[in-house]
Amino acid sequence: MGAVPDASASSNGTLLTAVALLAVAGLVLSRLFRLQVDPREPPIVYPTIPLLGHIIGMVRNGPLYFKTFGQKYTHPIITLPVLTSRTYLVLSPDLASQVQRASSTLDFVQLAVEALPRMAGVSKETKEIVDDPKSKEEGRERMVTQVIHGLMAPMLSPSKIGDIANIQLRHFTNFLNAIPNGHEVELFRFLSREITRASMESFYGPENPFALHPELVEEFWNWEGGLVGYMLGIFPKWTAKKAYVGLEKCVTAFVEYMQNNRHSQAYELLRRRQQFHQDEGISLEEQARLEIPMCLGINVNAGITVLWMMNHIFSRPVLLAEVRDEVQSNALLAPDLISFTALRDKCPLINSIYKESMRIAAPMTSGRYVVADTIVADTYLLRKGTVVQIAGPALHSNKEIWGPDAETFNARRFVYNWNGTRSSEDGTIVDSKANQVPAAAYRSFGGGSSLCPGRHFAQMEIVSLAALLVMGFDLEAPTGQDRVLWDPPMDDKRFPIAVIKPLNELNVKFMRRPGREDVRWKLEYY
Ligand code: HEM
Ligand SMILES: *[C@@H]1O[C@H](CO)[C@@H](O)[C@H](O)[C@H]1NC(C)=O
Repeated sequence: MGAVPDASASSNGTLLTAVALLAVAGLVLSRLFRLQVDPREPPIVYPTIPLLGHIIGMVRNGPLYFKTFGQKYTHPIITLPVLTSRTYLVLSPDLASQVQRASSTLDFVQLAVEALPRMAGVSKETKEIVDDPKSKEEGRERMVTQVIHGLMAPMLSPSKIGDIANIQLRHFTNFLNAIPNGHEVELFRFLSREITRASMESFYGPENPFALHPELVEEFWNWEGGLVGYMLGIFPKWTAKKAYVGLEKCVTAFVEYMQNNRHSQAYELLRRRQQFHQDEGISLEEQARLEIPMCLGINVNAGITVLWMMNHIFSRPVLLAEVRDEVQSNALLAPDLISFTALRDKCPLINSIYKESMRIAAPMTSGRYVVADTIVADTYLLRKGTVVQIAGPALHSNKEIWGPDAETFNARRFVYNWNGTRSSEDGTIVDSKANQVPAAAYRSFGGGSSLCPGRHFAQMEIVSLAALLVMGFDLEAPTGQDRVLWDPPMDDKRFPIAVIKPLNELNVKFMRRPGREDVRWKLEYY
């Protein structure tokens, strides 16, 4: 297997002088350290700028950098040299599922254990406990694995989430029923903050830190917004000040929450998780820190997803009418009552829009740490001590997988098959076995051992809130605008936590639908 030249990696004069200097240094170094490659490793794609080129590409282009590889190479997996090591990039669904299956040597938890403590400024001692090095010699599962697979996944299953789902849904209806007719908002802020407040109540109880200190909602989002810089860890107190301050304020409030035993009102899952941390000898402040990455999972992605669903539905009047028809006919238990179970089981269009919105806005790249030399697909050698990444942006935009309109929104892509259907030349979706998309091509919730355990809760809150907005309101241009500026560009040059945010504001006016001005909506899980 020879090297594949990377024809178009960009170095077209826009790079900073510093980067050019690094490149020169890299050129010299690359002669000193030749990459030792085994011929069985996947085909190598050398960067134009030696050693550092791929890192520069990722920093400058974010997730888009991985997308271009999917368009240029037909190999199912490639090797990207980085300094004197390499990372592997998976570009085909078949290989993605093989990587997921080889979970005994291709390990997700190792990466989680590295990243999560870093997010919240956790101490060395706590990191060591979370790392749980003794698990191996004691022949038991690692602590993180026990918590996620033994505790979180079962307690977030559809049969268990009914009670917290109803708290979440009641929060949504109280909020929306109270907004005055003609209310003007910036949609991203409006949705993301409401879902944050609702999720904190559902998971952490009515006396959660954000309910007692409402200003923490913004502090939390400040932390989230600066998280990548914070995690780089170069004096974050100065270089990522807003994130640092936001995090510390949230931690202080969680310490207070725990000191006052307000955890007793949290969802059982979080009570047991905290007990676990307590039993492992983690201090109170450090326990508080470990709650913050948990808040990331519950607070951040759903609001952005609802925003994109609203954008796709309300910018298409025909689609809007079809969704309203579907919900009206199949999911109303009473004129003012929407059931999530009915939405989920009897409304394929709104669920398809949900999955399709995430296909476009959440092309997640999942990593696995290579614990031991591993051969995948009987062909490719992955070397111990490297990271293999399943390239979501490449898989989600691949026309061979999804059809000619792979890069644009197609509301019906998931109507017949929950894994997706390849579109025809004219964009129609024809239900046939031959057109079924393999499950591993869809990356928004990861896959295999790291498949998101929160996905049922996410679908519940996102589809229900979307249905309520569609049934209750028209979204009109705000004062001073002659139309709503739909389809804001995506902030896709930055690595998102999962769902990509809009780059611009999306301002709208909420008008109650004619004839339904006085409806007080209710949402229920069952
Ligand atoms: C739209 C909403 C959500 C999206 C897009 C999302 C996405 C993801 C993705 C892509 C992963 C896998 C990471 C990887 O493979 O690298 C993941 C893992 C995880 N998610 Fe979610 N998630 C969402 C909602 C939630 C919710 C509501 C919860 C909790 C209630 C949650 C808890 C978790 C946890 C604990 C993991 C770690 C799983 C593991 O380590 O094996 N997520 N999520
Ligand atoms: C989706 O893919 C999974 C995994 O391959 C498979 O078990 C399931 O049957 C598929 N669903 C449909 C509706 O084809």
